[in-house]
Amino acid sequence: MNRKRRPLIAGNWKLNHGGSSACALAADVARRTAGFTAVDVVVAPPFTAIAAVAHELDGKPVGVAAQNFYPKDSGALTGEVSAPMLLESGAKWVIIGHSERRQFFGETDASVAEKVAAALAKGLRPIACVGETLEQRERGETLAVVGRQIDAFAKSLAAAGAGVIAYEPVWAIGSGRPATATQVAEMHDLIRSVSRGLFGEASPAVRVLYGGSVTPDNVDDLMRTPGVDGLLVGGASLDAAQFARIVSYRS
Ligand code: PGA
Repeated sequence: MNRKRRPLIAGNWKLNHGGSSACALAADVARRTAGFTAVDVVVAPPFTAIAAVAHELDGKPVGVAAQNFYPKDSGALTGEVSAPMLLESGAKWVIIGHSERRQFFGETDASVAEKVAAALAKGLRPIACVGETLEQRERGETLAVVGRQIDAFAKSLAAAGAGVIAYEPVWAIGSGRPATATQVAEMHDLIRSVSRGLFGEASPAVRVLYGGSVTPDNVDDLMRTPGVDGLLVGGASLDAAQFARIVSYRS
């Protein structure tokens, strides 16, 4: 497939591998994906493992992402982690507004927008997540919801001239029921046209990923779907062999 943008495949480890097992997994991922230089590969361990994983991956072509951060540098904010702390630990990327954070931790379009702006200002590359719930889809609100989610952080991405949006339908995450190729193509087409309007000249540089029950079995079809610039992988990224197979997708 002829691609305009360099593919990005990121593994979201969620609340798994916060200690020494993270380094072993990272090393295994690096070893198994070493040959696939045409793809940007990123792993997102929990905060506690970021420094060790970044050390393990030093000099290797696998980037490190955080799964969240707080958009202030320092202060009386017990329990929070800032962008400078992440950068110092070796993270270069950050996942923002994952649906689990929106669902369980009160993240809103406004807080996501604030974090995207703060990440870009500090030099962390945001992977901003959007996606509708099953109820929203069934009510016919998918386009409106996703459009609103993107609109919230559009100004920051437009100003930065680049960025990554991950389209993750909530009902497809961890369900074993990925969106169909038709649904993915339809949403990526919509996101691309929304982003053309919102990001202007920056739009061609914005990568749009798909996430939700990506596995070695469906990766080839997903990566062949028009508009898909890469993937955000949850469960299958916890197994280095499966994740490497995803990175080595056939298009
Ligand atoms: P999944 O998770 O691949 O396990 O569905 C994706 C995600 O939550 O980013």
